[in-house]
Amino acid sequence: MTAMPFSHIAGTGSAVPERILSNHELEKIVDTSDEWIMRRTGIKERRLSSTGKHESTADLGTAAARRAMEIADISERQIDTIITSTVTADRITPSAACLIQHQLEANHAAAFDVSAGCSGFTYGLELADASIRAGKAETVLVIGAERLSTFVNWQDRGTCVLFGDGAGAIVISARDAPGGILSTHIRSDGALWDLLYCEDGNPGPPDILNYIKHIPFHIKMEGNRLFKKAVAFMADIALQSLAQNKLVRDDIAIVIPHQANLRIIQAISEKIDIPMDRFYTNLHRYGNTSSASIPLAMDEAFRQGLIKKGDHVLLVSFGAGLTWGAAVIQWSI
Ligand code: ACO
Repeated sequence: MTAMPFSHIAGTGSAVPERILSNHELEKIVDTSDEWIMRRTGIKERRLSSTGKHESTADLGTAAARRAMEIADISERQIDTIITSTVTADRITPSAACLIQHQLEANHAAAFDVSAGCSGFTYGLELADASIRAGKAETVLVIGAERLSTFVNWQDRGTCVLFGDGAGAIVISARDAPGGILSTHIRSDGALWDLLYCEDGNPGPPDILNYIKHIPFHIKMEGNRLFKKAVAFMADIALQSLAQNKLVRDDIAIVIPHQANLRIIQAISEKIDIPMDRFYTNLHRYGNTSSASIPLAMDEAFRQGLIKKGDHVLLVSFGAGLTWGAAVIQWSI
């Protein structure tokens, strides 16, 4: 394998489960209202995966990967590495990436998971870019695939209204031509781990959601403190990325932020002085899909014609750990 210095996005794909859970349905499960959820988060509905319907984390990741491979026009034999970011793999071991490799029959690849909370996709992107630049791989699949519905305590209105399931994927190809991934930045602060973590025990979903797989852990979150950290850290790393690439706000065609809360995204828009009409959001339809949120949004924005060849795209992520990250990409397709 000859080292080629640039990592280009060659294809994007996404997949979400069929079942839609609206805010109005949630009103029957916990003491909440469509009005509260919309006003405080911007979320209108989310997707929930059903057991026995080919909607496992690996199934969703595989479907997203196939769509990205179609656009990239590559076969499974060309894939050197599969990196899946997830906090909700179907099994503790093997990794979601290995299960996806099996479904894709990508027998020549090395496959592994990255666990970096909702920032996992930007972590995967950094690893993929580094291995391409080092000449270790020519074609890498980076996937974000999650089923947060399995980890949610459906009796806790402070968290169960926020999360949803889905997957997004990209194919990255080594090329000689300049462009592609221009920079990646990843950061973490383990001292803040207890703002968002998984704890033992879970009462399980209510009867009307009995199609959800039940995991004996649940998410605990200090929403208010996380909110402030999310805004500060994402704005800071976004500005650092622009400075490193000598880009100004008008050079950025589109920002794809982690989709946790519309108010967080609006606050970042103000802090980095890029108007909201250049931020892509789809959290009203999917809620927070953790590390799937950025590749899922990126795929939608691309398929809607909002990202064009040569555009500068800014990704910015934040999640449990705490972790956060950013990437600047010059679009290649
Ligand atoms: N419906 C109705 N009322 C609710 C609900 C709900 N679903 N949830 C909380 N409330 C109530 C609270 O009990 C509280 O009531 P009180 O004033 O009587 O005590 C009131 O609403 C306000 O609660 P806050 O938690 O202060 O509300 P806030 O405006 O902070 O919004 C939210 C909560 C939406 C969770 C917000 O803090 C947030 O989005 N934080 C960031 C979360 C985040 O980004 N998490 C993920 C990052 S990492 C990752 O993506 C996994």
